Amino acid sequence: MDEIKKALSEADPFASWWPFILAGVVFVIGTVRTYMGGQPCPNGNTIPDRVIVVTGATGGIGREVCRELARRKAGCLVLACRSTEQGDALRELLRREAPDCTCEVQILDLRSFDSVRRFVRQVQTHHPTVDALVNCAGVIFQPGGHTVDGYEAHLQCNFLSHFLLTQLFRPQLNRSPHGGRVVNVSAHGYTAAKIVDREDPLNLRQLTTSGRDAFAHSKLAIVLGSRALARKLVAEGHQTTVNCCSPGLVRGTGHLRHSPIMKALFAKVLTFPWMWLFMKSPAQGAHTIVRLVTDPALASCNGDFFNDCERVEVSELAKDDELAERLYQAALSAVGLCETRENKHIKGKKE
Ligand SMILES: NC(=O)c1ccc[n+]([C@@H]2O[C@H](COP(=O)([O-])OP(=O)(O)OC[C@H]3O[C@@H](n4cnc5c(N)ncnc54)[C@H](OP(=O)(O)O)[C@@H]3O)[C@@H](O)[C@H]2O)c1
Repeated sequence: MDEIKKALSEADPFASWWPFILAGVVFVIGTVRTYMGGQPCPNGNTIPDRVIVVTGATGGIGREVCRELARRKAGCLVLACRSTEQGDALRELLRREAPDCTCEVQILDLRSFDSVRRFVRQVQTHHPTVDALVNCAGVIFQPGGHTVDGYEAHLQCNFLSHFLLTQLFRPQLNRSPHGGRVVNVSAHGYTAAKIVDREDPLNLRQLTTSGRDAFAHSKLAIVLGSRALARKLVAEGHQTTVNCCSPGLVRGTGHLRHSPIMKALFAKVLTFPWMWLFMKSPAQGAHTIVRLVTDPALASCNGDFFNDCERVEVSELAKDDELAERLYQAALSAVGLCETRENKHIKGKKE
């Protein structure tokens, strides 16, 4: 021990550059990771008694959203998922972490409008009021082409089914004493999307070439559809708001599970260090969504796009209100709904 003490007291830190180089590398890595992790949710308020529906609840980001909302004492979380086993496992985790929060598992498959309608009926039976709807589920490079309803899979899973879900929950959201909130999870990738024919904003007549293009278009549709809905909610005098966000680039989720490149082991090994350095953790990816659900300062924020917990400008295409309205009408028709003449109620076409 005396020898170690002596060696330390006699050590000359300036004899070598290595300690400084090492400290510099650790500092740079730490700074890059902190910066890339994005801004944390600035508010920490609780949301007791709120009923919140979360789609994609068992996914990487959705799960973290649920954990944080449960920690913030949400009254009831409705976990919308495809697998009962995964839903039950998440409910069990939440029960342990936040015993005061009630969690319900409900089955929802966004590849089918029938499933969406069944899901809404189930939730409505128990909850006359819904305070927030988080449309977090999403797919990319989805195999299988078209859905049972005949739509391109990305378009239906990411946009159309969430659009239908939101329309069907509008009465419940409008009843929220806190002002209902819809949070639609989009992606930075929406900026790469193209709508070639303004008469066909859902690209139904386009031959989609790649999963990436279809994903980008579905995420642009989310932004345009939210913008149009926000304008209607304001015009109709409702307290409900609808906003979009990008979670950023998030590692460790199932998002790229169908990516042809990321299926290869060598790609996983090669990209791991970069993902670790430059991408957010799922918990960091959840921050913007949590802020949009919980922050009282955003109660009147409507039709906006958020990134890293801050409101950001959208692309020129996503600001096109005329296109947004066209897309909204096309989406209503695609999901089998129509607006009444007063623009006040949404009805099924067959009603
Ligand atoms: N990770 C990123 O870097 C990133 C970047 C930009 C945007 N986003 C968006 O963030 C959201 C969450 O993504 P994530 O990274 O957490 O991915 P994830 O782990 O794959 O989670 C996606 C969730 O969506 C659910 N889902 C997929 N298809 C469904 C369907 N047909 N019906 C119902 N649920 C379905 C999945 O359920 P199953 O487990 O049953 O498949 C899963 O719970 C998505 O909207 C995604 O587009 C992610």
